[in-house]
Amino acid sequence: MNSPVNVTVTGAAGQIGYALLFRIASGQLLGPDTPVSLRLLEITPALKAAEGTAMELDDCAFPLLSGIEITDDAKKAFDGVNIALLVGARPRTAGMERADLLSANGGIFKPQGEAINAGAASDVRVLVVGNPANTNALIAASHAPDVPTERFTAMMRLDHNRAISQLAAKTGAPVSDISKVTIWGNHSASQFPDILHAEVAGKNAAQTVNDQAWYENDFIPTVAKRGAAIIEARGASSAASAANAAIDHVYDWVNGTAEGDWTSVGMVSDGSYGIPAGLITGLPARSVNGSWEIVQGLEIDEFSRGRIDASVAELVGERDAVKELGLI
Ligand code: NAD
Ligand code: LMR
Repeated sequence: MNSPVNVTVTGAAGQIGYALLFRIASGQLLGPDTPVSLRLLEITPALKAAEGTAMELDDCAFPLLSGIEITDDAKKAFDGVNIALLVGARPRTAGMERADLLSANGGIFKPQGEAINAGAASDVRVLVVGNPANTNALIAASHAPDVPTERFTAMMRLDHNRAISQLAAKTGAPVSDISKVTIWGNHSASQFPDILHAEVAGKNAAQTVNDQAWYENDFIPTVAKRGAAIIEARGASSAASAANAAIDHVYDWVNGTAEGDWTSVGMVSDGSYGIPAGLITGLPARSVNGSWEIVQGLEIDEFSRGRIDASVAELVGERDAVKELGLI
């Protein structure tokens, strides 16, 4: 058995938290040899609900769960943290402008970045799930100057998994035959799900499908607007699939991506693929020795260039807005 790993989940009493915590405690985040000590961070009015979830976690008698702490104090929640899952965020409500949303979330992710900077373990890995995830990750990272920016990631894995599922349905191939999908850009409707380098059973996906109209008019909008379609159908945003994607992201980060494949990670750009350095954007990445590395050398055709640039322009707009608000 390894020593226990400190895993902090913010927004622990929310719907993603409820779908996530039991999977973490059962060993699906870090594997069957790694006990976890959970820290649940919530706002004060939600502490009681978080306590209820903790009671249920106790009632599962998970052999790998070595402790649970519940707090509304970010400093306590992130003290010694190894894995930080930043799920809690301010949702957009009726009449709220984009700047209001960015400002409200700045009020959450600035102090959390500071608390991570002050107390996290030296190997801390951060995944931001709360929307707007890429820009929230940028805010948190910019308030944690002592933590390498590469340790702050935003979740593109749900979009990645959605793209695999749609491509499998179109081709009739099992999902296990699909590899090398990439989600570029923002976790928003502007994202670019790219199958031009993807493979279906080892063959190029775009050539296998050979249907540009489906790609442009069906696949891309279906994947990019799936979050809104789930909200419309369920009356609430995706929760179990989002929790599943968070588990996939961290598991691969710690244990490595599957041989011969890559995944999509919201990570800091180093300027590769003409994306401005410093932005947190969806990129193709492999986890090598516990660190994400950008997959290099993919050919970007004119169609892809336009799509990537459009989503990156949205990220630049969000970055400029939070800069103007003094949040980074
Ligand atoms: P939810 O409203 O059910 O839960 C959010 C929880 O966060 C609430 O319990 C709230 O009390 C808590 N919270 C708010 N401010 C906090 C703070 N400062 N510190 C700690 N906790 C705080 O929402 P949900 O359905 O669990 O979704 C959470 C976030 O994840 C939303 O922003 C949603 O848009 C986003 N999301 C992202 C993806 C993705 O792929 N990146 C997918 C689905 C949902
Ligand atoms: C999703 O992709 O399901 C969510 O990000 C949608 C949302 O707005 O919460």
